[in-house]
Amino acid sequence: MRPETRQQQDPSPAARYPGVRAATGQLAARLSAEDCAIQSMPDASPVKWHLAHTTWFFETFVLEPNLRGYRPFDPAYRVLFNSYYNAVGEKHPRPERGMLSRPTLQEVLAYRRHVDGAMHALLSGRALAPALLDLINLGTHHEQQHQELILTDLKHLLSRNPLKPAYQKPWPLTPVSARVRGWISCAGGLHEIGHAGEGFHFDNESPRHPLWLQPFRIATHPVTHGDFIEFIEDGGYRRPELWLSAGWDLVNARGWQAPGYWERRDGGWQTFTLHGMAPVDPNAPVCHVSFYEAEAFARWAGERLPTEAEWEVAARQAPVEGNFVESGALHPLALREAPEDGTPAQIFGDVWEWTRSDYGPYPGFRIAEGAVGEYNGKFMSGQYVLRGGSCATPADHVRASYRNFFPPEARWQFSGVRLARDA
Ligand SMILES: [Fe+2]
Repeated sequence: MRPETRQQQDPSPAARYPGVRAATGQLAARLSAEDCAIQSMPDASPVKWHLAHTTWFFETFVLEPNLRGYRPFDPAYRVLFNSYYNAVGEKHPRPERGMLSRPTLQEVLAYRRHVDGAMHALLSGRALAPALLDLINLGTHHEQQHQELILTDLKHLLSRNPLKPAYQKPWPLTPVSARVRGWISCAGGLHEIGHAGEGFHFDNESPRHPLWLQPFRIATHPVTHGDFIEFIEDGGYRRPELWLSAGWDLVNARGWQAPGYWERRDGGWQTFTLHGMAPVDPNAPVCHVSFYEAEAFARWAGERLPTEAEWEVAARQAPVEGNFVESGALHPLALREAPEDGTPAQIFGDVWEWTRSDYGPYPGFRIAEGAVGEYNGKFMSGQYVLRGGSCATPADHVRASYRNFFPPEARWQFSGVRLARDA
């Protein structure tokens, strides 16, 4: 066995802050003020709101309590850009974030500069207490989560425009595809999951704890678009016996016939991407499927989804490498050959992988005191865990123990499928 997950070397918050903030600005730099203002559905937020809310986090939790003489950029922003922190007070309603034509994009960018200046003063002043440094670090990881949401929310927005506009020019084609796909055997017995050792992690990744697993196998590769086309052509969306009851209700209520963003054109499948419309690449991992579609596909294939514990045990020997946002592809890329060391291919990057585990507290988990305790713990109902990061995730944001979570009907994230089976 190789050593467990290579621990990422976390730079200090002072070193990390400017790069993370600049990366957010770069995501928005190619967009118009109109692009940044519109909200395409209640689940998605305007880019302008993400730019302001990530800034609000530092202003509200870091600067106001800790930087002597700090003056808020605009006191009204405390309510306007509060996402869900009841301890902070009132919130502007989420479905109405797209109605904020004011402040303008330029004012929000000025807000970012105001807070960045104050953060620079704080970080370059006296030595900060470890708890405050942890909070600043949390703010940078929070901002990286919103970087991914900027891309997924923007993709949804642009997809609703009949002009099908591109966010950026097409990515380099990757016609290669793995010739050999198979299964990796994982031993049963006593395992541990959860975050261990140094480096940043969210509270929901701890405590690390033991658990018992039966022997299992996990697929060397994610499920591809081509696999999913077989499911569609075999009547996958028309066969109730393949679906969980709530999933079947959704298929009928929403008229789902294919993954999100797919359109039937000229006798073939095309999909909307951040590069505009493109043919569906049969060799690339399927994405924009809900938990229900992942589940139905697995049942059709005669397999199952992995639990999050199985996923973590299989993934933690693999290096955290893959098609992350830095590649510029902003789309899952064709399957690559599985590594010779027996670790799964593309387990990190490309697509978040749905697991069969609902999102709950690990044994011994306690919600932290104060507003930041609202970060993760209060969402532990009605959602499922996804693992591994996607083509919209920053590379230094993800790790084997990272637990993403979404409701089972969500499919506007880059969410895909990897199969498992009992050994
Ligand atoms: Fe947030």
